[in-house]
Amino acid sequence: MKIAICASEGAPYVKSGGLGDVMEALPAALARIPGNEVVLILPYYNKIKTNEAFKVERVAEFRVGLGWRQQYAGLLKLTNRTDGVQVYFIDSEYYFGARTGAIYGDMDDGERFAYFSRACLDALAIVEFIPDVIQCNDWQTAPVPIYLKSMYQHIFGKTRCMYTIHNIEYQGWANSSFFDDVLGLPWEYRGVLDMNNSVNVMKGAIETADLVTTVSETYARELMYPYYAHGLDGILANAAWKLTGITNGIDTNTFNPETDPALPAHYNAETFVEGKAACKAALQEEVGLPVKPDVPLMVMVTRLAGHKGLDLLCYIARRLLWEEDAQLLILGTGEPQYETFFRELQEQFPDQVAAKITFNLKLAARIYAGGDVYLMPSKSEPCGLSQMNAMRYGTVPVVHATGGLKDTVPPADQDGKGGLGFTFQSYNADDFLASLKRCLYLYNHNREGFRDLQKREMEQDFSWDVPAGRYMELFQHMCSW
Ligand code: GLC
Repeated sequence: MKIAICASEGAPYVKSGGLGDVMEALPAALARIPGNEVVLILPYYNKIKTNEAFKVERVAEFRVGLGWRQQYAGLLKLTNRTDGVQVYFIDSEYYFGARTGAIYGDMDDGERFAYFSRACLDALAIVEFIPDVIQCNDWQTAPVPIYLKSMYQHIFGKTRCMYTIHNIEYQGWANSSFFDDVLGLPWEYRGVLDMNNSVNVMKGAIETADLVTTVSETYARELMYPYYAHGLDGILANAAWKLTGITNGIDTNTFNPETDPALPAHYNAETFVEGKAACKAALQEEVGLPVKPDVPLMVMVTRLAGHKGLDLLCYIARRLLWEEDAQLLILGTGEPQYETFFRELQEQFPDQVAAKITFNLKLAARIYAGGDVYLMPSKSEPCGLSQMNAMRYGTVPVVHATGGLKDTVPPADQDGKGGLGFTFQSYNADDFLASLKRCLYLYNHNREGFRDLQKREMEQDFSWDVPAGRYMELFQHMCSW
């Protein structure tokens, strides 16, 4: 099957969050399936251009229509990828070159990604890769199915389009003039994109895509409710017949405690007791916490954003640290009020708290390995990847039972049996504290039970093979219409 994937980020070239991880592993997993040809298209951000590790050749130059304008595009092909995925970059100095360092957040983001979406279709036509399926992601590439259905049927009449929602908070809202001035779509599509007299490109994608997916089964159900859907619940309820959840995997080669070069000691599901003890001692030393093997180390690697459940943690933190002989280690940057909170918490509890307000992938790996308990009380979580990273490294998750957290962390009982972690149902600080205390109780009073739980987690298959198979089923289903 010929598969084209369009995305605004993809590791190792460019990544701001989970979408970047998915766009590293999913194309590769699809390319491993015999008979598949996989093309991935990304914007050629300055960050990629200036990184010498990524060798490219120029394949074509063309013009992309945007409203009444034509904008230059260069098409570059990566020449040094070896896993079968063909990677193309859309080059535009104007849209992706001379910008601030960040990949999103410019005033004209709507225009930048409308341009990119349309350029993806033009590029596929130019290299004569007419895919059976195009898979696109989040608001940035939401215009792809819209253009495909409205203006590109003469080229891609048989191509089906899957639209995947990783984060519904950002929908690509724009002023109604965006429809003519930038998108330049035929007038009969105005209603498809219109929401409250504005343009909403995510809505347009949901309506025009052949299938819509999101990144876990529970989140697909949650999206029918206003609490989760940020205004799109009605639209998604109407599209329920074509909405499916496929829970993400993680890159189990990169995240492998047996080989991860960032770790001071290596281990697997048989040797983790000694291996994790060595990683924990080294980690406590590295972050300036007292090296105490039997004090439970609670860890969190996160963007310091409200929806990650930090308000719950802030609410219970002092009580938790007074009542429990436990250590807390946080790694991440984000909203200033949380950065300040955790810095102050560290000052107040220097022997129990380490706050590393920075972004550091290697330290993150050492934290997944050296921690005992992983906290992820997210308010909502489409899938979440770090709880799987934590389990792969044998660190027990305590999570809010929502979205992908609910699907990947079935609850264990108080002896640690029957599940993979500790969960709480309603988004409430006391419930979070209670489930965390159950976890600490198991650690303190039944270490055997705690280790059984860790071992079960490490034995899980979180690889992309299973989800890639589900994507294939849906691709085949779409192509049978
Ligand atoms: C977004 C979601 C996260 C998900 C990731 C990859 O970042 O917030 O839950 O794991 O996309 O799909």
